[in-house]
Amino acid sequence: MKKNLIIAIDGYSSTGKSSMSKIIAKKLNYTHVDSGAMYRAVTWYALQNNSASQGQLNEERLIAQLPNIHISFIKNPTTLRNETYLNDVNVEDNIRSLEVSSMVSPVSVIPAVRDFCVNLQQQMGTNGGIVMDGRDIGTTVFPNAEIKIFVVASAQIRAQRRFLEYQQNGKDIAFEDVLKNVEERDYIDSHRAYSPLRKADDAIEVDNSELDLNQTVDKVMEIIHQKMGA
Ligand code: DC
Repeated sequence: MKKNLIIAIDGYSSTGKSSMSKIIAKKLNYTHVDSGAMYRAVTWYALQNNSASQGQLNEERLIAQLPNIHISFIKNPTTLRNETYLNDVNVEDNIRSLEVSSMVSPVSVIPAVRDFCVNLQQQMGTNGGIVMDGRDIGTTVFPNAEIKIFVVASAQIRAQRRFLEYQQNGKDIAFEDVLKNVEERDYIDSHRAYSPLRKADDAIEVDNSELDLNQTVDKVMEIIHQKMGA
């Protein structure tokens, strides 16, 4: 198979994009980048630095603070997974909290925040050999990506997956709240004016409502091999 391709995996929240992208990158010996982690890191910064609190976002203040935000990914030597660092502090756990999930969509509609994250994403893809997952990777970040996948699944099933994750991590959150968060994020992500979530014309849709992670990976790998004629 040709080396150093760009593989864009977009889709709705909680469709398992990051988990599948990690495995696919490993199989291909590529780098995986979770672009959502960048928007989450900016949101965590906003919550820690008084540009967001109690559901209110101070857009102007956050935009002025963007030059102070440095995001990087460092491989954990034990798990061998990339973890997110904000100004050299590991924030991988913080950025997965419901507090961040509830604020990340309004943060990610701000054009200056999008430009900031998209620049970083494009820099990381300069040499190819990358699997990047997100919402606008195939449409905006890498419109010329060789392979584009668009992952969908029903909101109920996605909320159920996220609910189980919270339960496994000992977090006591009502299913209705998780479902509401999934539906709200779907709406905001696909209705924002700037770079909304949408399937690129040349992306291949994968519905994994009825598939587990391994089955989804198999399906995507099959598409990659077919597309590359390998
Ligand atoms: O994939 P995720 O749920 O961790 O993403 C968190 C949020 O970031 C999501 O609600 C929308 C936003 N996001 C985005 O706008 N564009 C991307 N490329 C990735 C994520």
